[in-house]
Amino acid sequence: MASSLDDVKQRIKARVPLDQLIGETVTLVRRGTSVTACCPFHAEKSPSFHVYPDQHYYCFGCKETGDAITFVRKTREMSFIDSLKYLASKYGIEAPELEESDFLKRRRGEQAVLAQMLAAAQDFFRSELKTARGAEAKAYLLSRGFTEETIEEFGFGLTPAEGFGLVKHLRALGFREDDMIRASLAVVSTKTGRPYDFFRDRIMIPIKDVQGRVIAFGGRTMVNDPAKYKNSGSTPLFDKSAVLFGLDQARDAIKDKRQAIIVEGYMDTLCLWQEGFRHVVASMGTALTVRQLKLLFQNTKVSDVIILFDGDSPGQKATLDAVDVVLEVPELNVKAAKLSGGDDPDTFVRNKGSDALGVVIGHAVDLIDASIGAKLVGISPAAIPSVVTRDFVPWLSRVEDPIKRGYLVNRIFGLTGVPAEAIHRQLRSFTLTPTHGARQMVTPPVGSVSDSAAGGDRLKVLPTRALTPIEKGFLGNLYFATSGDIDPGVVGGFVSKELMLEPLWEQFARQVIQCHVEGVAPRENPALLAAYSPEEAQILAAITDLSPDTFATEDRRRSLEKLILEQKRANIQQSIALLKRQVQVASSQSPQDVPGFLAEVMALTQSLSALERSLSGQ
Ligand code: UTP
Ligand code: MN
Repeated sequence: MASSLDDVKQRIKARVPLDQLIGETVTLVRRGTSVTACCPFHAEKSPSFHVYPDQHYYCFGCKETGDAITFVRKTREMSFIDSLKYLASKYGIEAPELEESDFLKRRRGEQAVLAQMLAAAQDFFRSELKTARGAEAKAYLLSRGFTEETIEEFGFGLTPAEGFGLVKHLRALGFREDDMIRASLAVVSTKTGRPYDFFRDRIMIPIKDVQGRVIAFGGRTMVNDPAKYKNSGSTPLFDKSAVLFGLDQARDAIKDKRQAIIVEGYMDTLCLWQEGFRHVVASMGTALTVRQLKLLFQNTKVSDVIILFDGDSPGQKATLDAVDVVLEVPELNVKAAKLSGGDDPDTFVRNKGSDALGVVIGHAVDLIDASIGAKLVGISPAAIPSVVTRDFVPWLSRVEDPIKRGYLVNRIFGLTGVPAEAIHRQLRSFTLTPTHGARQMVTPPVGSVSDSAAGGDRLKVLPTRALTPIEKGFLGNLYFATSGDIDPGVVGGFVSKELMLEPLWEQFARQVIQCHVEGVAPRENPALLAAYSPEEAQILAAITDLSPDTFATEDRRRSLEKLILEQKRANIQQSIALLKRQVQVASSQSPQDVPGFLAEVMALTQSLSALERSLSGQ
């Protein structure tokens, strides 16, 4: 909507002749390209109001300024939308976007009819449960532990096995067949072309919106139909991914408790409600959606949410999958509670009681935290740094709250040993791309210096630490080298894989390498530094202002090679230290992993001594 309004606004601004429009209100004085008038917004005798060819006006007297739309809004005291409509019709500009509000009006009328029909269907299903035919269904509900009162209160109903009960009933009430079909209460028989009941021979559970209006149904089989539940399809009133079952009745309790519990199933919600957990809603299946979470927050303003899915593996997988969704709703603070394998909240509370369930809920852990742990299970130590880079950094970048993000970085450090500083550094190379709303890696521009000089979208992150001696030596040798001195492939690969430079330095390194590729000596290329802000250039001066003698060498390639080997050695030493920490943790928590870790340590130690040999061989 926002963007389509923007479109129509641009279209109107481009097509309305502003001078003509304003000329209807005040007398314009034209002299060459200049158009002036006595200002319509304040009293004056000599004209200080100007209309410019780029379709905006400005008064030097009262400072009023704007475009055609502002002009209409102010001179005619119209709303923004009405001004758009006025201009569109006055100048014959097509603006279907503006008719949407009429369309919405019609849709609201249609929705009212469907809502009436669903209410009538709900009455019908309830009364069916009370007939003799409903005895079996009633017995089923009682056997599941529901009381007479809650059966009534929740509005459980029944649809008979016969295929036309509801259709006939609704027709008698004067509802139209095509509306029944659109409400997902009837379907057309391919054989007869006549509509018949969508739900048959099921226990009916009303699904309500936040206001408590019935908008859909879930129907449970009592006869082990392979489709355990049949739910209303999408209708103008119901989109399963945007509804939380039970929110209407749980809303106040959620606000009181300052906590919401999300379960998977209808029966879980209803059973927990009966057992006194009134702040419970259901996702209606396993995949939680962003819209459901937003709905929850909008209606309760409560941030603390506990996911309490079934204890089976689909339930646990769905819990972890919810992380991606949760990250899209940073207002929420989501925890996961875990039931034992065979239980769902319904069976758990009936078998073990509500106190036991309270304990399970009390032991809920931060969902993101839990998912970090889960992602690391079975990962070999050597692969851990790349899991951190590939899996954790992208989604850490989506955690908006800096405190939470810092906490998670430290958690990842605690679990993996990858230094928090290194994770933060990688995080800084991520940025928001407005078009997708998702954060993506900003690849440091590898192209020519002039490319990036133009780049206003270039990453502006200043280094937070000084260069290490190895980094300084490497960058200096690169900068003061003359072309042909270096092998761009080798140094480029090193910059990408082994050297963890801060973004500004990494970009500098890539541009310097690019100069070499193009056969230009970096320090004779004035465009190189011109690409940076004064602030950045001052930091880069740590290299560029040095005397070339600092990096004098007999053999540039050899010097660079040596620095590369030294950095690799430092990296291996760091990995070994990390593995040793993991051995320590594993020896108490998962002794079976220890041999694997030790083998890694051995392998790394061997590569280390190979490196030492080539270093001393220089
Ligand atoms: P469950 O199978 O956990 O349902 O599915 P449940 O509510 O615990 O049902 P009972 O206890 O076996 O009677 C969780 C939810 O997934 C949706 C329903 O919303 C259900 O409540 N679902 C499940 C379906 O829509 N269709 C199905 O066939 C199964
Ligand atoms: Mn169940």
